[in-house]
Amino acid sequence: MTWVPVVVFRMSLKLALALFLLGAFYPILEALDNGLARTPPMGWLTWERFRCDTNCKKNPKNCISENLMMEMADRMAEDGYKDAGYEYVNLDDCWSAKERDAQERLQGDPERFPSGMKALGNYIHSRGLKFGIYADYGTKTCSGFPGSWGHFELDAQTFADWGVDMMKLDSCSSNVTTYSKGYPEMAHALNATGRPILFNCKWPFVLPHYGMKINYTLIAEYCNTWRNFWDIREKWSLVLMIVDYYALNQDVLIPASGPGHFNDPDMLVVGDNGLTVDQAQAHFAMWSILAAPLLMANDLRNISIPRRNILLNKEVIAVNQDPLGIMGRLVLQFSDRVNLWVKQLSKPQEWAVVFLNRYPSPQTVSLSLQQLGLKSLSGYNLRDIITHSDIGYRDSSKKYKYTIPATGALMMRIHP
Ligand code: GLA
Repeated sequence: MTWVPVVVFRMSLKLALALFLLGAFYPILEALDNGLARTPPMGWLTWERFRCDTNCKKNPKNCISENLMMEMADRMAEDGYKDAGYEYVNLDDCWSAKERDAQERLQGDPERFPSGMKALGNYIHSRGLKFGIYADYGTKTCSGFPGSWGHFELDAQTFADWGVDMMKLDSCSSNVTTYSKGYPEMAHALNATGRPILFNCKWPFVLPHYGMKINYTLIAEYCNTWRNFWDIREKWSLVLMIVDYYALNQDVLIPASGPGHFNDPDMLVVGDNGLTVDQAQAHFAMWSILAAPLLMANDLRNISIPRRNILLNKEVIAVNQDPLGIMGRLVLQFSDRVNLWVKQLSKPQEWAVVFLNRYPSPQTVSLSLQQLGLKSLSGYNLRDIITHSDIGYRDSSKKYKYTIPATGALMMRIHP
């Protein structure tokens, strides 16, 4: 834990010294340093696929309920996702009852979560997985359920009592001018429970819309991950829009990323049918090179084999989970068609590269590795980590041709 002695700046030096000597110098506000998210978190969550379906009579298989969560936990444990590193099973909005209970605590909707939230946490843990939940900083969640405003400590404790391991704190119905005080207060409340709870914040997202600057140093001190852009949907144009936001702001976003604290470009929509297989592959490659959380929003009970294979590609996941935690950088663009992203890996001189083809026909580009900033005199060995095949040796200064599928990606791991 890191102690942040905010109060000391407000008191006289003499008094601070006297308290220090008396051993009475205690922390007022802790930073989040909870030891979590040393690499980007991986898991599954309800939102983009199941949205706010609360009608279990009409849609018993797809409504937000304990059954849905347990079925997904089963699929994660039995179908290889857990072995590949996916561990959080997360509720998003619409899980709670419309009212708090008599003690003001949040409660799961009694019809959809009849066994109770603690029992759900226990089930998820019994499958060797972790339990994530959604809350909102303001008075109401984005779908109109009770928010946490005025109840930060109580809600943090309630979640800890249920065995929650991760919390997304959305920012609907809230006052943006209070965030720099309020988000740290929630981080403090989580820490005070004594249970390590990974903290995802929607803190930076709206600030620019109110003409406010984003202070990522402060945010990274209190949040493990943070959303900074609009919601993803199952559309190629939206995947590209998010990628473009990351490219445009990369000089600010790259330094913000590292072990314990990561940018969150939103969930993965690999598995749903809104993207072609090549687009889904490119989306997964991009989220991996961005060191983004890999939280799948899909139906693991009904997923095609090619999409499942994308999500279980251990070589691509290894790039995302590289211990350096560096976010990749856009280094080169071929007109408006092909973008080249490069990420440094923890093994000396090792790199990951994504060629992103935005265009609806295959593209061939010719370039030397030197153009990507890779200048080793002895050249490099290249491996295609999407198809798991070695490409072979490449001289750094010579130009070679690379072909990228239509609205798709080529992803390579490179070492001298
Ligand atoms: C916001 C968030 C989404 C989702 C919904 C739920 O739009 O950005 O990720 O949590 O709220 O209502």
